[in-house]
Amino acid sequence: MKLLAIESSCDETAAAVVEDGRRVLSSVIASQVQAHIVYGGVVPEIASRMHTEAISGVVREAMQQAGLTFTDLDGVAVTAAPGLIGALLVGVNYAKGLAYAAGLPLIPVHHLRGHIAANYITDPALAPPFLALVVSGGHSHIVAVRDYTDFQVIGRTQDDAAGECMDKSARAMGLPYPGGVNLDRVSAEGDPSAYALPHPRVDGRAYDFSFSGLKTAVINTIHNAKQKGEAVSVPDLGAALIETVADCLVGNTMAAAEAFGFDRIVLAGGVSANSRLRRRMTAACEATGRRLWMPRLDLCGDNAAMIGAQGYYEAQSGHFAGLELNAFATMPIDAAEFGETRSN
Ligand code: KG4
Ligand code: ZN
Repeated sequence: MKLLAIESSCDETAAAVVEDGRRVLSSVIASQVQAHIVYGGVVPEIASRMHTEAISGVVREAMQQAGLTFTDLDGVAVTAAPGLIGALLVGVNYAKGLAYAAGLPLIPVHHLRGHIAANYITDPALAPPFLALVVSGGHSHIVAVRDYTDFQVIGRTQDDAAGECMDKSARAMGLPYPGGVNLDRVSAEGDPSAYALPHPRVDGRAYDFSFSGLKTAVINTIHNAKQKGEAVSVPDLGAALIETVADCLVGNTMAAAEAFGFDRIVLAGGVSANSRLRRRMTAACEATGRRLWMPRLDLCGDNAAMIGAQGYYEAQSGHFAGLELNAFATMPIDAAEFGETRSN
């Protein structure tokens, strides 16, 4: 089954052709990063407009690279939630038009399910069940993946996502957008023990996260140093922040794995590109005899190949949508119900 997949939930316009959920025939990503840098973050209106400008060319290039025409396809998969609503609508409406014109089934895909599915491309032998840590700019979830379309959220952030915490802290340290990426780079040689940051916990909810207090602690550290006329070491403070975030993410994931009996762990989402987090997860899994999967670096951030991978399994489960499909800014990963379910 060959699917054209479209992703436009944030600041990348992406299209890909994926066969049977595992084989990427083409993958094209038009990044808007340069347009948002001057604002220090994604400006939703600019994102929507740039998606509109880019989408036709990106889809055309994905089809050309795959060497296919629309009649060779078996369906159109599209990210329909969660994300910036104006940005999502560009992809959803384009996919609807294409599905209608080419007479193809339309398959809505939940963005975070797509991030998890990036691992099916990285390792074509990987199959559920496993426990996933999904960490992106907007979400931090521990999810039991019982089957390809059967999810149970075990832990989530009560406030900021891990990526958001790192992006905003990086901004306070004077690093340009996208903060998490630059923080990873500049803190590579930093000494994490140079700064003591709090390890926020959520009372009574062992698998939940809270990162907003950590962000505040970083901002206070910078302000206090400024008031005393002292310099802040960005590499050291960055390293301390990432190690603290990793303590929380890895600690809760391992506790959930123990409690729910998972010996297979999967990392997913933009933050899974972080080098310290990858090292820490690898070490924790090795120490406890668990097997770890991490997405290939080029599949960690937003892309359409992962949407095509998950789209295949949604189609196998009969999860299609009609032309009334809408986009949703928020939607739980365990209830990604966009429309009709039909046997195929
Ligand atoms: O999944 P993603 O590309 O977009 C969303 O769905 O949100 O994740 C973006 C997030 C941003 O917060 C970005 O700073 C973070 O992932 N990120 C990183 C790294 N690469 C991307 N954070 C830390 N270290 C990285 N290497
Ligand atoms: Zn994402």
